[in-house]
Formats: sequence, C-alpha cells, structure tokens
Amino acid sequence: MTFHIISIFPELFGSYLDASLIGKARAEGTIDVRLINPRDFTNDPHHAVDDKPYGGGPGMVMMVEPIYRAVQSVKRKARQAHVILLSPRGKELTQEKVRELKDKKDIILICGRYEGVDERVAEHIADEVISIGPYVVSGGELPALVVLEAVSRYVPGVIGKEESREDVKGSYPAYTRPEAFTAGDGTWSVPDVLLSGNHADVAAWREKRRFDFTK
Ligand SMILES: C[S@@+](CC[C@H](N)C(=O)[O-])C[C@H]1O[C@@H](n2cnc3c(N)ncnc32)[C@H](O)[C@@H]1O
Repeated sequence: MTFHIISIFPELFGSYLDASLIGKARAEGTIDVRLINPRDFTNDPHHAVDDKPYGGGPGMVMMVEPIYRAVQSVKRKARQAHVILLSPRGKELTQEKVRELKDKKDIILICGRYEGVDERVAEHIADEVISIGPYVVSGGELPALVVLEAVSRYVPGVIGKEESREDVKGSYPAYTRPEAFTAGDGTWSVPDVLLSGNHADVAAWREKRRFDFTK
C-alpha cells in the first residue's frame, strides 16, 4: 500500500515515519510513503500556495491549483488512487472507515494549513473528507498520520500478528509486573482475577471491560 501525503511541511513527518512499526514496515517495503509538497506545483516565483479568502475574513486559504496539480502527479501513475482531504468538517474517522480503506492500493492524503483549503478541493478533487475528531488542530499532518497508522495496522506484515489487532482480540485494560506497586501512601494492585490462572474468569472479566472496535 502506498500513501501519498500532500503537505507544505514534509519535514514534519521524518522521525515519525522512520520509527517503530511504520519505520519497519517502510524498511521492509510493506508500505510506502511518498511526501509531495504543493509548492513544487506552483508557477509563481515565490511558490505561493495560499491566498486571501473571497468575502474577507482572517487568515489565508490554500489554493486549489497546486493541490490539483499535486494530486494529478500521483494519479498519472496511480489512476485509482483514493483521495482524502483532512478537515475538521469531514466525516469522523471510525474503525469501520479504517477497515474500508485497508484494501486501497494508493491513498492520497491532503493536509490543509492556515484557514483551510479552497472548498473546491472537497467538492471536485477529494473522494472523501475525513476528520479525526470534533476539535481543530493547526494542520492536516497529524490527522494524515492518524489515518496512515490506523490503516497500516491492516496491511499484512505491519503488526506482528493479525490477532493482536483490537477488532480481533478485543480491547480491554492490561496490566504487567509488578503485581502491587507502591507510590506515595498507596498501593496499586492488579485485579485478583488476572492472577487467578482461571482462563474462563479472565475471559469473562475482559469481555465485561471490553471496548468494542468491531463496529
Ligand atoms: C486550522 S485548520 C483549518 C480549519 C478551518 N478553518 C475550518 O474551520 O474547517 C487547518 C487544517 O488542519 C487540518 N485539521 C484541523 N483539524 C482537523 C481535524 N479534526 N481533522 C482533520 N483535519 C484537521 C485540516 O487539514 C485543516 O485544513
């Protein structure tokens, strides 16, 4: 699976994409990530990618043309690429949506900045608009990484075992050694049931505490 990230701050991605499971998956060729700067798709000498909003108002808006051209540069080689615009006004990301995206061969993630992106990107270029939650961050880069990492967990070979994924094994509270940890004037203990050795009781306890990611 290849992720094509369109961002005016490609330098923000380096350390995150080089480390841990994503770094390993990239090194092994399981996933590929290409960073595309819309500034490379401008005609003006200053490589401007933003302009003032029609109708007035604060801040600048990212222009449609550099983004259109950046997307076209990917689509020339990957015609079926699925185009996602990250926006706080998009449809909220769920595990179901993540699962839906896992079969795409190429995903283009468009990261906005400033006051956002000219709405024609949502209307005519993006296949869908995704929000990572009902709050606003300063750019689409973190949201793009959220989508990339959540979807990558479905790509065979990225996480060690399929059954480690939460929609397979369930998601429940976990504890490890020590059995009792003393801090300040209190002792924090592991629930007795997890130390009981009774697999049926452990399974029942986990089921009760389970957060459902299957939907
Ligand atoms: C400061 S925000 C602009 C918000 C814009 N004024 C609005 O009301 O929609 C800049 C960029 O960050 C990204 N962004 C911010 N919050 C996001 C969220 N919750 N989910 C996805 N992307 C988000 C989007 O790409 C957005 O274009």
